[in-house]
Amino acid sequence: MPIVTVSAPGQESRYDIHIGHGLLAAAAPLFAPYRGRRAMIVADEHTAPLYAGVLLAQLEAAGVSAGLTTLPAGETTKCPEQLSRLYDAFLDAHLTRTDLVIALGGGVIGDITGYAACTYLRGVHFVQVPTTLLAQVDSSVGGKVAVNHPRGKNLLGAFYQPELVLIDCDTLRTLDARQVGAGLGEVIKYGCIADAALFERIEALGSREALLPALDEVIARCCEIKADYVRRDPFDHGVRMQLNFGHTLAHALENAMGYGTLLHGEAVAIGMVAAARWGEALGVTPAGCAERIRRLLTAYDLMTERPEGLSPDALAATMALDKKAEGAVVRTVMLTEIGACTAVPLTPDQLRALL
Ligand code: GLY
Repeated sequence: MPIVTVSAPGQESRYDIHIGHGLLAAAAPLFAPYRGRRAMIVADEHTAPLYAGVLLAQLEAAGVSAGLTTLPAGETTKCPEQLSRLYDAFLDAHLTRTDLVIALGGGVIGDITGYAACTYLRGVHFVQVPTTLLAQVDSSVGGKVAVNHPRGKNLLGAFYQPELVLIDCDTLRTLDARQVGAGLGEVIKYGCIADAALFERIEALGSREALLPALDEVIARCCEIKADYVRRDPFDHGVRMQLNFGHTLAHALENAMGYGTLLHGEAVAIGMVAAARWGEALGVTPAGCAERIRRLLTAYDLMTERPEGLSPDALAATMALDKKAEGAVVRTVMLTEIGACTAVPLTPDQLRALL
């Protein structure tokens, strides 16, 4: 069973990500450090009926007295009103600072539960049990937690590292094909920005079906890459922004099409091909990279072209408002080869011309 250790300097944090098959049903020993404490599992309407029972049984076996709070599924749950519901549930369960909150679900559940764990009583113990591929390879690792504000995504957030991440690859069996694809977009991103061998391995496997048996190793490799970025830049002031390869256009597409129309990882797939083409046009990315990425994403059934009819002016204007924008330029991640990248400052006019 692969174990990846994450250390986040400045947050006095060091924790293990356990990755394997059937982990949920054998999780009791991992919760032994919390014996005698109370816990609250936070799940959504999809994950609660599938996995809360088995997790509750494991917590009981570990001597942890646990309850369950179930939130609605979907991005709209990441709001101050649902956050307030979580605080009520924690208070009703008399959780104290020595108790534990467990996120059981995808990125939405991980983000809102982590934010609640960070702020309730100024911080309680926090464990992530991500059940989507995207959450397993990205959002559950590295401590970014947040809720949305009516004026924008993730505007209320913090860095709050979990103490344990438990990735049971079997949870992916119940994930629908689009959600798997969205996760694969992020998996391929890791190959593009940091690991040519990972990229080549996914190329050689060539399809979702062939990748499935190797998924635990691939997830572990993605977690190692993410852990390395978190170690080098825990508060996202520098090199960690490389994780945003493909995100400049992706965020603009999500915004222009309405959040939820494209899944985030699907938008990232389109954004990566675009960023590779921009890099080639500017002489940063070697010729042929964009086509290689496009072929790989297509083999894994991901869209690679932005839908027609979106106004380039509106997309460019949205990109200029990107969180990674600094004054008049947007720092856009571009590949210097498959497996390496750099951030290139682009003006809104340059972005408009590249679209
Ligand atoms: N999801 C990007 C990061 O954690 O920095």
